Amino acid sequence: MPTLLDIEAEARECVRCPLAEGRTQVVFGVGNPNADLMFVGEGPGREEDLKGEPFVGRSGKLLDQLVLEEMGLSRDSFYIGNVVKCRPPGNRDPKPEEIEQCRPYLEAQVEAIKPKVIVTLGNFATKLLLNTTQGITKMRGQTYDYGDATLVPTFHPSAALQGGGGDVISKMRADLVRAKQELAKC
Ligand code: URA
Repeated sequence: MPTLLDIEAEARECVRCPLAEGRTQVVFGVGNPNADLMFVGEGPGREEDLKGEPFVGRSGKLLDQLVLEEMGLSRDSFYIGNVVKCRPPGNRDPKPEEIEQCRPYLEAQVEAIKPKVIVTLGNFATKLLLNTTQGITKMRGQTYDYGDATLVPTFHPSAALQGGGGDVISKMRADLVRAKQELAKC
């Protein structure tokens, strides 16, 4: 089975979809490669594309704060990646064919890391990993099986920043507490 480094090396050369043309760098993922907890976001934004690291902008700061407050964990104790590894231009949504081309990297990351709990952030990660067309509002609030892992869907932090406000944040907090309880069972 390929290691995380093997998968990263392959992703860094990837030209499977047109997002490769516009990227500054591939944003593969970051964190503890043996983590029990993995977060999956949507795709890199401008700051992530420049820095080569997921969730370094405003969404990331909010996520870090909520994870620390509700789970007592900081970045070095989990792994974080995205559905697509290259920035969609102008921060548009990733297209279905881009997601399909990038999907093997995410699946290989999960296989290599073997997290016990996966938290999907928002619609794209949740729909992809749970193979559903149901939106995050319907899917969150419960846990699902994903292979040997437990999957906990929650809102993308940008939903809280884009006017979802307190209600979204309080639901995210509840979901993170749920993820913590699932981790404790492992
Ligand atoms: N939003 C995401 O989904 N991923 C990032 O890495 C940054 C913002």
